[in-house]
Amino acid sequence: MEKLRNLFSLHQKVAIVTGGNTGLGYDIACALAEFGAIVAITSRTLDKAEAVAHEISSHYGTEVVGVQLDQTEYSSCQRMSDTVHDRFGRIDILFNNAGGGSGKGECDFLKRDPQLIRNMIESNLVGPLFCSQTVGRYMVEQCAGSIINMGSIAALVGRTRKIYHDTYKMEQPIEYAAAKGGVLGFAKDLAAYMAPFGVRVNVISPGGFDKGELSQDFVKAYATLTPLGHMGVMHKEILGAALFLASEASSYVTGQNLVVDGGFSTCK
Ligand SMILES: NC(=O)c1ccc[n+]([C@@H]2O[C@H](COP(=O)([O-])OP(=O)(O)OC[C@H]3O[C@@H](n4cnc5c(N)ncnc54)[C@H](O)[C@@H]3O)[C@@H](O)[C@H]2O)c1
Repeated sequence: MEKLRNLFSLHQKVAIVTGGNTGLGYDIACALAEFGAIVAITSRTLDKAEAVAHEISSHYGTEVVGVQLDQTEYSSCQRMSDTVHDRFGRIDILFNNAGGGSGKGECDFLKRDPQLIRNMIESNLVGPLFCSQTVGRYMVEQCAGSIINMGSIAALVGRTRKIYHDTYKMEQPIEYAAAKGGVLGFAKDLAAYMAPFGVRVNVISPGGFDKGELSQDFVKAYATLTPLGHMGVMHKEILGAALFLASEASSYVTGQNLVVDGGFSTCK
């Protein structure tokens, strides 16, 4: 029997983490680097990507590079994929992490600016589709790969606006849920399309993680709605799911949605 720890090893695997310079993407990039992967992290600003890449590389002693990406531009997705492939000769893992739901402008649906609705869908749904295509071509060619998309519990349940209003926090715009619902949908169908080529496609759907910028009132209110009693803990609670889906440990798992939300979406 193969040693279990070998199934989790990412030694010499080449991974891309979009938006890996910050937040959950940074955590994921660190997890992959710790388990031996060569990692490319992207940011819309090359300098930022390179600075964080250097920091992760020094810490984990593995190669980490920074690449520029604006995933709403197809040419940028193509360039990012070509850059990583030209440099390392393959791409084993794509984490479609870039995006996010913190709304700019008025977030109330009935007052929402149509252009902001379009922008949100482009960065959270169109971007991951573009990257899946430009990286997916290389994965199909090499007959192996794992694509992991960041979904959200926003795609799974409607959520009360009360805790947002009570704690003066901007609510998440409705179209964020639509975009993440789209991610869940495309991931399942892409999994079916890619399976004959040995490429797996899955989703991680996090609940709210406390990145340190939220008010204590909001963090407490959110915790009361969460069966495990707290918001997601950064630098810890996304790591296991990310490593599992990136590695051979999940070699028989495709088209799935791994919900990491402390039970939030199961609780009425
Ligand atoms: N933080 C949470 O609580 C939470 C919960 C559920 C889902 N998510 C999802 O997890 C992912 C990461 O969230 P986070 O909170 O760490 O986000 P974050 O805002 O801290 O970082 C997002 C990253 O994505 C990049 N990005 C955004 N739009 C982009 C674009 N058009 N092109 C290229 N890069 C772009 C940003 O520059 C940044 O690097 C997102 O997809 C988000 O929707 C987060």
